[in-house]
Amino acid sequence: MKTRAAVLWDIGQEWQIEEIDLDPPKAGEVLVQMKAAGLCHSDEHLTTGDLVFPPEVLATMGMESMFPLIGGHEGAGVVLEVGEGVTSVQPGDHVSASFIPSCGRCRYCSTGRQNLCDLGAGTFQIGMITDGTVRHHVRGQDLLVGAKLGTFSEHTVVAEASVIKVEPDLPLTAVCLVSCGVATGWGSAVERAGTRPGDTVVVVGIGGIGANAVQGARMAGAKRVVAIDPVEFKRESAMELGATHAAASMDEALPLLTDLTFGQMADRVIMTPSVMYGDMMAGALALTGKGGTCVVTAIAPVTQTEAAVNLFELAMWQKEVKGAIFGSLNPRADIPKLLSLYREGQLKLDELITRTYTLDQINQGYQDMCDGKNIRGVITFD
Ligand SMILES: NC(=O)c1ccc[n+]([C@@H]2O[C@H](COP(=O)([O-])OP(=O)(O)OC[C@H]3O[C@@H](n4cnc5c(N)ncnc54)[C@H](O)[C@@H]3O)[C@@H](O)[C@H]2O)c1
Ligand SMILES: [Zn+2]
Ligand SMILES: [Zn+2]
Repeated sequence: MKTRAAVLWDIGQEWQIEEIDLDPPKAGEVLVQMKAAGLCHSDEHLTTGDLVFPPEVLATMGMESMFPLIGGHEGAGVVLEVGEGVTSVQPGDHVSASFIPSCGRCRYCSTGRQNLCDLGAGTFQIGMITDGTVRHHVRGQDLLVGAKLGTFSEHTVVAEASVIKVEPDLPLTAVCLVSCGVATGWGSAVERAGTRPGDTVVVVGIGGIGANAVQGARMAGAKRVVAIDPVEFKRESAMELGATHAAASMDEALPLLTDLTFGQMADRVIMTPSVMYGDMMAGALALTGKGGTCVVTAIAPVTQTEAAVNLFELAMWQKEVKGAIFGSLNPRADIPKLLSLYREGQLKLDELITRTYTLDQINQGYQDMCDGKNIRGVITFD
């Protein structure tokens, strides 16, 4: 079939809306009509090149280039058709995308760590995770499909492992948010950082991810949640989502936190700024107290290998630095769980959507994100 998608042809370019050719789903695959797609910062890293692997790394993957590609890894839609052997969804079902597939059988899935599923290894490889062949084509060329989803497309074909059935009465915009930003932020605070009642938690960067780290920290019982962002609107939004204090920078937060905690500093620090850089670790660990945990959720440029970490303090003050993908959650269990918290009125989702866009307005949406105007921008499809 023919459909329309936002295609990126190279680093530094804008998304181009293209008519693409989409092949029907093969065994283990699903054709999805997208209804909502979130503008997560991770796709912006593709346009800046931060998430584009250098030629020597691509060569190890048997690839010369990651372009052209379809972006989008946060999304929700309706199943139109299923390939042979698909059992967990059928036509008409509403689904959430899952930017990490979950096979259910690998070492990680079978030990409750679906966010580390072995199928995730091929995220930036061309071809379906089912059989390695390609379903998406543009102007006669094969397309790489971001996170094996390509939610910036009116229709897409994905592996069954990449979709999770959700209850049909839930708004698909809310389902969309849960598929990346909410799960990633909430899980970073609740699961990966392990926030406990009475903790002091710092969240650095209040976008679609950090806003949900704030919600997660509050829900886990944090006594104080300090939201840090240079943009006033972000700080105000964080206060509405459960933050108790706000600061414009990590430097500004240092005396505030020293005061609040009588010098003990934070039990948990969650790093969710737009882009992670090694030199930000000094500030993050200065805010982390003795025995505290610093979770790095934001994505750094793929070539970033150095970080400013005082190793003496790391050992002597017994601090912990942890990475987190998908908030260390299990998509199959936790996407429905987060949606049930929304249904019960405990998790705010509708409030996270600052603006909606059409697919054709995607570049405006990303401009607004970069200008600090959105907690989350969402593309809605008719
Ligand atoms: N680990 C994962 O699984 C995962 C999943 C999704 C997104 N991410 C990453 O998380 C990060 C945040 O994504 P997002 O969609 O929320 O981005 P966003 O652009 O919506 O929000 C980022 C916020 O950080 C703020 N910021 C920038 N520099 C800052 C600094 N030095 N101090 C404090 N605040 C700062 C910005 O003003 C902005 O409000 C990105 O790097 C994204 O790629 C990681
Ligand atoms: Zn994302
Ligand atoms: Zn698996």
